Amino acid sequence: LNRAATPASVATAPTLAADPAGLFADAGLVRGGDGVLRLDEVSLEAIATDLGTPVYVYNGSSIRARYRALSESLAGIRHRIHYAVKANSNLAVLRLLREIGAGADIVSAGELNRVLATGFDPSTVVFSGVGKSEAELTAAVDAGIGSINLESSEEHTLLERLVAGRVLPHPVRVGIRVNLDVGVETHPYITTGGRAIKFGVRQDAVPGLARRIAANPRFKLVTLATHLGSQLLDPRPFVAAAKGLGGLLQTLRAEGIDNIESIDIGGGFGISYDDSPAIDLQALGAGLAAVIDQRVALHLEPGRFLIGSAGILLTRVLFRKHAGAKAFVVVDAAMNDLVRPSLYHAHHEIVETVAHGRPVQVVDVVGPVCESGDFLAQDRPIAEVQQGEHLAVLGVGAYGFVMASNYNSRPRPPEVLVDRGRYGVARRRETIAELLAAERADPFS
Ligand code: LLP
Repeated sequence: LNRAATPASVATAPTLAADPAGLFADAGLVRGGDGVLRLDEVSLEAIATDLGTPVYVYNGSSIRARYRALSESLAGIRHRIHYAVKANSNLAVLRLLREIGAGADIVSAGELNRVLATGFDPSTVVFSGVGKSEAELTAAVDAGIGSINLESSEEHTLLERLVAGRVLPHPVRVGIRVNLDVGVETHPYITTGGRAIKFGVRQDAVPGLARRIAANPRFKLVTLATHLGSQLLDPRPFVAAAKGLGGLLQTLRAEGIDNIESIDIGGGFGISYDDSPAIDLQALGAGLAAVIDQRVALHLEPGRFLIGSAGILLTRVLFRKHAGAKAFVVVDAAMNDLVRPSLYHAHHEIVETVAHGRPVQVVDVVGPVCESGDFLAQDRPIAEVQQGEHLAVLGVGAYGFVMASNYNSRPRPPEVLVDRGRYGVARRRETIAELLAAERADPFS
C-alpha cells in the first residue's frame, strides 16, 4: 500500500482494494471465501450487529503472539517486558498480559490501581512519569513496587520527605530516568529523548542524584531507565540507549554504586500501520545482545508493539455525500472515539467487514463531531460502501480507546476481547446517564 495520500484529483482512476496482508497477519484477521472478515474465527460483522457501533475489538491471541515474538528476539538476554499500561489499560488486556508473564509500566495512581486489581506482582511494576503527585508516590511506596523512576532531584527530595517518618519493611526501590539525548525520528509530540524535552535527568546530573540515593538507607537504586519516543522503526536508537545506560553503569560502579539490577530502555518499538515494515526484531535483539552488560537485566516498556495491531474499531456508515470534488463517508465513530488521525495525522487502514467486490473510490471517512478536524481518513481509496454497512479501522489497539473522550457528549464505545474463538465484552458501552451523573446544574444548591 502506498501510504501517501491520493489526491482527490486522481479519484477517477483509483486502484487498490486488496486487504493489507501484513496488517491482517499482525492483527490475526482473516477474510474468508465468503468475504467476511474474522478475528480468531469470530465474525466482526456479527460483533458490530450484536453490540452496535462504534466498538473496539481486541484479539487476545495476537497480543500473546506479539509478546512472544518480542521476548524470543531477546532470547539469551536476561530481560523482563513491562507492558506500558497507558497504551491500553482495559482490565481484560492487563489480565491477559499478566498471565503470560508481563510486568507493567505505569504512569499514574489510576494505572497502579488497574495493575493491582488484575493481580500483577507489585515487584514487576515500574512507575514512570515527569509529574508524580505526593498521593501517587505514597501509593507506589505503599504497594512496594519494583521501581519508582525518578525524573528530577526535586522528585527525590519529595520522596525522601514522604518516607521520612515512616517504618518501611524494605528500602524504597527507585530508578533514575535518564535523558540520553539519543536522536530519533518520529512525530514531534511523541519524541521524549533529546535535550530540550521535559523528561528525565540530564546525564551529567545522574551521578550526583545516584550518590544522594545511595547515601540514604531508606532507598535502593535499582535501575537506570530511559525512554526515547514512540513508534520508532529503527532499532539503532535502542541499542544506543542500552550502550548509553551501560556507560553510566560503569561510571557509577567506579564510584562504588554497584548494586544496580537492571537497565530499562523504555518503550517505543514501532509497528506497521500501512503494511510497510515494522521494527526489525532480529536486528534489535542482535544489536542489544552485542552491547548489553550481562551483570544487569534488560527491561523494556513496550505498549504499542504488544497491543496496537491487535485492536480494531468497528464503525457503521451513516451517510455518503459529496462536497465540491470530495466524496465523504460519514461514519458513527469520530475523533472522540479515535483521536490519532486528527491529532497526529496518523494513518489507520480501513477495510470492509464484508467484502462486496465493489469498485474503489477515494473518500474522506469522517465522523459526526462538529469540526472539520474530525476524520478517520482523508483522500483514502476504499471499496465503495453503502449506508448501514460496517467498516473496520485497523491498528487501533494502542492509544485508541484510552485516548477517547466524551467530546460532543458522546458516550465512549464498548471494548470487546476475542479469544479462543469467542468474544466477551470487556467494557460495556458508556451511557448518557453516566455522562451526566457527576454534574450538577446548580452547583450552589
Ligand atoms: N515508557 C514510557 C516512559 C513512555 O512514556 C511510553 C509512551 C512508553 C513506555 C510506551 O511507548 P510505546 O511502546 O507504546 O510506543 N499517544 C501517542 C503515543 C504516546 C506515547 C507516550 N509514551 C500515539 O497515539 O501515538
